Amino acid sequence: MSDRPSLEPSIIVIFGVTGDLSKRYLLPALYHLFKDNLLNEHTTIIGLTRQSMTTDELFGQVELCINEVDNICDPAGLKKMRENTELHQFDPADPVGYPKLLEYLNQLEEKQGMCLNRLYYLSIPPQLFTDVVHNIGAGGLNGSCQHGTAKTRLLVEKPFGYDLSSAEALIAETSKVFKEEQVFRIDHYLAKETVQNILTFRQHNPVFAGIWDDAHIKTIEVVAREKIGIAGRKNFYEGVGALRDFIQSHLLQLAAITTMELPADSSSQSIHESRQALLESITPADPALAVRAQYDSYKDEVGNPDSTTETFASIKLFIGGERWQGTPLTITTGKSLAEKRTEVTVTFTNPHIDSEVTNTLTFRLQPNEGIHLELRIKKPGFDNELEDAAMDFSYQHTFGESSPHPDAYERVLVDAVRGDRTLFATSAEVLASWRITEPIIQAWRDNADGMTTYASGSTGPDIAP
Ligand code: BG6
Repeated sequence: MSDRPSLEPSIIVIFGVTGDLSKRYLLPALYHLFKDNLLNEHTTIIGLTRQSMTTDELFGQVELCINEVDNICDPAGLKKMRENTELHQFDPADPVGYPKLLEYLNQLEEKQGMCLNRLYYLSIPPQLFTDVVHNIGAGGLNGSCQHGTAKTRLLVEKPFGYDLSSAEALIAETSKVFKEEQVFRIDHYLAKETVQNILTFRQHNPVFAGIWDDAHIKTIEVVAREKIGIAGRKNFYEGVGALRDFIQSHLLQLAAITTMELPADSSSQSIHESRQALLESITPADPALAVRAQYDSYKDEVGNPDSTTETFASIKLFIGGERWQGTPLTITTGKSLAEKRTEVTVTFTNPHIDSEVTNTLTFRLQPNEGIHLELRIKKPGFDNELEDAAMDFSYQHTFGESSPHPDAYERVLVDAVRGDRTLFATSAEVLASWRITEPIIQAWRDNADGMTTYASGSTGPDIAP
């Protein structure tokens, strides 16, 4: 990062530090922040785990994860992180441990001689959220340093609930313990550089502003195809499925950023208001316009021959209000497919000549991050033949390899430490997203009606519902 954030001293308490998400995303992101000296020198990581594991064992695994992504792990960066990390055996379901944890945090602050921000990061299965939040409150951990102004914050990973009513219950319970401004609901897609750029693109390229409506745009498609399957996360994924795991959170947020009214200013509040208004204007999904499928080896992988969990889902939505009345919004995701490709494609209408020949604008999130405008030009020659031509912006080409942007989890952590909630989902946005998906969740619950199977590594099922 060229512009270096100035971060306050903090204790980051990670519940579930030995879990898959923590090892694959969170700890490597913290390593990068330590390596690049972006964290305040008085930063302590407290990893909590039910398991009996040594710090050496944990760091051995973290090193493997870093190597997987970076191909190289800087020993000095890892050492710095290790010196500031403690591992504690802790059962989050047992309320007895919480007052002891509070005592320990107070002692740490005394030792450091200063008040520290306290961030509780819940990297645990969603079924445990409510109890853990309750225990945090009952154990007095939601307060902050008695003699100072440091802030206490809760960071939670999606999915926030598993349907509308459980999300409402979770939000109600959380609000008894934390104020809304203390809760940071992580949707790492919002923190992706390419996703932030969709809003910047819309705000600062007025050439598109006048044609960002249903009179000029025929379809909007949000697609996240993944090559990986469930990557060993069978306990997490079974019963969750593609709709809850990806569409209800990441992809609806992407759709909102693409279609919302531009915020009045760049404040966190204005951006949240725009996203929320758009999500609230989407008509709840019609199950008849939804497709689900499962990859062929999934049932064996999770050891459940009766599984009705979808690994592929595609839904068609309609946005209310003036701007988008005639433009369908299609959202599709699937695992174990032929390729990894995440993009938003806006297809324009062509009222003049032939409606099949038109322009498309694609925001490419991965791979080859960039923005691509597909044009039609005349092929040189005596005949009037058309040719496709592209205007292509590629991050790699424009900014080069040497200017990597912060990874989404690094951005999430930095923003949570500095208290910027712009890239996090508010409770209203979360509830609006659950309202959209609720009819399909109910229709698909405990049955496999209409479920098809697709071969792993294929392009997936036919998605026309
Ligand atoms: C997570 C989902 O939130 O996002 C995973 O739980 C998915 O199932 C992952 O694989 C995709 O993230 P990214 O950044 O690799 O596209």
